[in-house]
Amino acid sequence: MTALGLSFDEVLTTTRSVRKRLDLTRPVEPEVIRECLTLALQAPSPGSQQNWRFVVVTDTGQRQALATLYRRGAAATGQDEILQRLIETAPNERERAHVRGMAESAVYFREHLQEVPVLVIPCHEGRIEDASAVERAAYWGGILPATWSFMLAARSRGLGTVLTTIHLEFERETADVLGIPYDRGMQIGLIPVAYTIGTDFKPAPRKPLDSVLHWDRW
Ligand SMILES: Cc1cc2nc3c(=O)[nH]c(=O)nc-3n(C[C@H](O)[C@H](O)[C@H](O)COP(=O)(O)O)c2cc1C
Repeated sequence: MTALGLSFDEVLTTTRSVRKRLDLTRPVEPEVIRECLTLALQAPSPGSQQNWRFVVVTDTGQRQALATLYRRGAAATGQDEILQRLIETAPNERERAHVRGMAESAVYFREHLQEVPVLVIPCHEGRIEDASAVERAAYWGGILPATWSFMLAARSRGLGTVLTTIHLEFERETADVLGIPYDRGMQIGLIPVAYTIGTDFKPAPRKPLDSVLHWDRW
């Protein structure tokens, strides 16, 4: 059982993308971030643990600068249009309602990002461009298990997170803000962290397992 009294399976099914229910008024103790990151370091990697870096941002000016870059990223990547398309192509009413909620919360989130008390940017030391599939898998796949472990550990302690990537459209500018040596440090995403407003979260609607499962052959 976790600090919230959740079972492991409950943590797995209720670690949702939290945006509107991030408590922007409650500070997050540095120790709890350190605890979650310490647990994250236990995740597997293709031998690249020594290349993981996590930039934790709490400074008001830095958060403001990242939020501005995130909003520029949302505009440049056409986030609104993508969300609208997802709503229009949802296969049924239940999923349409889910996607509509997600779209609403994505817009709320980008307007309030600077108010989130902690932003965590997982990075991979070294940079890959035009890499082979194996190299790409080793870079991105090498740090995403740790990133997800961090998010699960956060959930189990009453913290909400969401993995975001839109700011990567302006990765170089973000690197400049944070002093990340762009040529040697690749950012993987940006994770807001805050205590959640209420701790009850439900599993999301998903396709039936048998519609995605192939056994022995595709
Ligand atoms: C790789 C990845 C990138 C994402 N990038 C963003 C993002 O830039 N901004 C955002 O608000 N949400 C982002 N999300 C969150 C998704 O929009 C969505 O909320 C999440 O997949 C949860 O959906 P669910 O409610 O169906 O579980 C990202 C998720 C993943 C896995």
